[in-house]
Amino acid sequence: MAKSRSIFICSSCGTKSPKWIGHCTACGEWNTYIEEFETLTNTAKEEPSWKKMAKGLQPNAIKRLDEIQESVLKRLDCGDPELNRALGGGLVKGSVTLLAGQPGIGKSTLLLQLAMTIKLEKVLYISGEESEEQIKIRAQRLKKSQNNCYLFSETNIESILQEASKMSAELIIIDSIQTIYNGSNSSTAGTVSQIRDCANEIIRYAKEMNIPIFIIGHITKEGDIAGPKLLEHMVDTVLHFEGDKHYSYRILRTNKNRFGSTDELSLYEMNSEGLNPVLNPSALLLSQHDERLSGSAVACTIEGLRPLLVETQALVGGAVYSTPQRVATGFDNRKLSMLLAVLEKRCGFHFGVQDVFLNIAGGIRINDPALDLSIVASLISSLEDHALHRQICFAGEVGLSGEIRAVSRVDLRIQEAERQGFKAICISKFNGSILPRNKSQIKIVQLGTVHELYEKVFAK
Ligand code: TYD
Ligand code: MG
Repeated sequence: MAKSRSIFICSSCGTKSPKWIGHCTACGEWNTYIEEFETLTNTAKEEPSWKKMAKGLQPNAIKRLDEIQESVLKRLDCGDPELNRALGGGLVKGSVTLLAGQPGIGKSTLLLQLAMTIKLEKVLYISGEESEEQIKIRAQRLKKSQNNCYLFSETNIESILQEASKMSAELIIIDSIQTIYNGSNSSTAGTVSQIRDCANEIIRYAKEMNIPIFIIGHITKEGDIAGPKLLEHMVDTVLHFEGDKHYSYRILRTNKNRFGSTDELSLYEMNSEGLNPVLNPSALLLSQHDERLSGSAVACTIEGLRPLLVETQALVGGAVYSTPQRVATGFDNRKLSMLLAVLEKRCGFHFGVQDVFLNIAGGIRINDPALDLSIVASLISSLEDHALHRQICFAGEVGLSGEIRAVSRVDLRIQEAERQGFKAICISKFNGSILPRNKSQIKIVQLGTVHELYEKVFAK
């Protein structure tokens, strides 16, 4: 029998070490070494493996690029427009998709919904985490037809794939990769080598049988997919499911897609009957109050290819402690300090003695630089206690010298603002070149500096 020995592997970069070490010398990460068992074979006496392969197996033929026939990519309709969009227009046969997200965000719900709505005869849902009864209860909450969905509580990858091929499943969902193990590997489930081995088997099965497979993966506190980065390289598509658990909105982001664009973004709302696609996200993300309140402004942002109107809210008040507080929710704290410094230096506002709280309504995180102008507007509005008109929105990046910089796809932003009933939009004057092409009725206010913003929007 082959001997096995203990070895430590860095879960971040895969470097091996005979002893546990706290700091990986290869990638510089801390506390990433995990013990695993490696089977020892005497490789010195053996023939190189490629020679053995050459004797036994018949490899695929090598072809010149122009000899290869194009096949039209057939996509399956998931029965969910938002998931179709995230996958680049539907599910591709033979593809492996990784769905990653924090615990409790709704990964199992999303894929169980898919299993019950997709128009296929046999969908196999493998659960290594929950009992069949738990899944049944969830399925009842979702209130969808469920005649095509088969459950299998199993964690051994060999028996999973064997059963799947016996029943000729047309779609397999594996919940989750961290609970599945491969019998020929002696490490426990969830370790780097188990995840890698199981993923290998899964990918090979998907390609050979030409069926789509979904894998659910947990993410660590830092937001990385638990297990080796390798997993992300191996699969065809990586989807991230994110959102704040205290809010009902969830965002499905495409981080990698071999069959489509990675600019996609889908929005869901979690309610008592599962996840519902949000068809008009802008209307939902704007806070629902009629009266004009100071400190709030609307930003016209773009996430992926989708324009989204979000409300930025600021509260500026006299500091209680000697060091004023700067607290931002859904926005980078350092960026907030930078915008405050710009307002202080370029416009003479005194934020140095004020506590500043900033919130992006809806609990979603947006990284679009076009948010800056709206944040600056809400900060001034709160400081001056001057409520902005409800029908004005902003899209611009603020630079260190107080200039308002041009942002991308401004015509899309203007269209969305008009569609949502806004009467005016403030943009950078450097975006002015789009004006001759612009056919919308909305008033466009062009601004060069933050000072101009104050003069044109706030001066009474
Ligand atoms: P789940 O899919 O189990 O999350 P994950 O697999 O990512 O860990 O979803 C968990 C949460 O979703 C749970 O807190 C309850 C909530 N939920 C609803 O609000 N409505 C529903 O219809 C369902 C099925 C779940
Ligand atoms: Mg789950």
